[in-house]
Amino acid sequence: MGVVGLASAVLLAASVALCSAGRADAPRGVAVGFVFDPKAKCDPQCDHGGICIRNGTCFCSKGYEGETCQYANCYPKCKNGGACLRPGKCRCPPGFGGRYCHKVTCDGGCWNGGECIAVNGAAKCICPSSWAGSKCQEAICPQGCRNGGICVAPGICSCPEGWLGGACHTAVCAQSCLNGGKCISPDKCRCRPPFSGPRCEERKKSH
Ligand SMILES: *[C@@H]1O[C@H](CO)[C@@H](O)[C@H](O)[C@H]1NC(C)=O
Repeated sequence: MGVVGLASAVLLAASVALCSAGRADAPRGVAVGFVFDPKAKCDPQCDHGGICIRNGTCFCSKGYEGETCQYANCYPKCKNGGACLRPGKCRCPPGFGGRYCHKVTCDGGCWNGGECIAVNGAAKCICPSSWAGSKCQEAICPQGCRNGGICVAPGICSCPEGWLGGACHTAVCAQSCLNGGKCISPDKCRCRPPFSGPRCEERKKSH
């Protein structure tokens, strides 16, 4: 073996030694450089497996923080007022969900194309223009539904028996009103004088 060969063997040995020294470094959980006093007292005690390294100073285990390691930490932080329950686990206020409470959730969902968004910290459905209600479940009939009609879809009224028309505003008389009489409510004619009777079929006698 020549001089060059010997030098590279020494270099190799040196780098292996450095490597293993680095790996065996420091006990788990305690960072190098801490002044660790084995007789240190922490009162109150360190929570959640924290180690008392100096009088009154805790070294917290991963996932905890605070003077006595009393607080779990969540990264990213819990959003929208969520509380960090365990390391990395948020408890979300009503209306929010997801790992970091970053998602808005509307209880029961938003119907008919409504969109769930946060308004002043509360989840709320924003409804398309023809729908209303907390879940956008109520159709809007701009014309109104009269005479007991119910708005069943945007602009569409379901009318009770005896009524017709877009707003249930047209009465139905099974038998039409005669002599210019007008159907004013189901099966009720308003007659033009001098006619009378259920269908305005009678001419009043004049004396
Ligand atoms: C830590 O506190 C104890 C008593 O509570 C005391 O005897 C000791 O000297 C303190 N150690 C240091 C380093 O201050």
